[in-house]
Amino acid sequence: MSASEDPATTQPQTMQRYYRWHARIYDATRWAFLFGRRRLLRLLPEEPNLRLVEVGCGTGFNLRRLARQHSNWQLVGIDVSQHMLERAFRALKAHSRRVFLIEKNYGKGHFRLKEPADVVLFSYSLTMFNPGFEGAIEQAYDDLRPGGRIAVVDFHDTPFGWFRNWMGLNHVRMEGHLLPVLKQHFDTSTCQIRPAFGGLWRYLLFVGTKPNPATQG
Ligand SMILES: C[S@@+](CC[C@H](N)C(=O)[O-])C[C@H]1O[C@@H](n2cnc3c(N)ncnc32)[C@H](O)[C@@H]1O
Repeated sequence: MSASEDPATTQPQTMQRYYRWHARIYDATRWAFLFGRRRLLRLLPEEPNLRLVEVGCGTGFNLRRLARQHSNWQLVGIDVSQHMLERAFRALKAHSRRVFLIEKNYGKGHFRLKEPADVVLFSYSLTMFNPGFEGAIEQAYDDLRPGGRIAVVDFHDTPFGWFRNWMGLNHVRMEGHLLPVLKQHFDTSTCQIRPAFGGLWRYLLFVGTKPNPATQG
């Protein structure tokens, strides 16, 4: 297999191509099925001066809310899609002094944040890291300070093969594969699996803490 066919190297390009068009209709359509985003934000720690990094921030749905709710938080959004980030940039203009947007392919060892994060947030992005979700979780572990939190909302699974295949065509993997890897790296504070659309699929809310050796006996 040549590098140009290897899914590990083509995942960023696939995302860039997919969102070139979908960025235009993203905010108008996704609210109808990306459940749990507001609920996850309510589960975040209520601490002042927190540094939060959202990986796969898209058009800035979460960052906009966080910037309004927490005037002293420092927010960083990372995304591989220029077209999604252009929309986030416009939506976050009013908060541009403390919200930083970075166009990057996030993954293990791709780059280092200048300062460790208190929270790394993944909202409906990890199931699109195909392949590469393990590397993204490992990088989040490295990017967090000891005692920092990872917060994830995403598709979990579906009992319907046709629906799994259809989501696959939209680059979403829905096989309950995130949870074991999250639990392997982080101490679980919240783990909820909730039904959506009368059981057509289930989605996952997970908040975990990076172990802090200094506070462990
Ligand atoms: C479904 S959107 C979610 C956007 C936003 N978090 C939300 O909740 O509305 C998934 C986002 O993940 C981004 N993404 C996918 N793979 C990525 C990668 N390897 N590095 C950075 N961002 C990535 C996509 O470009 C897209 O903007």
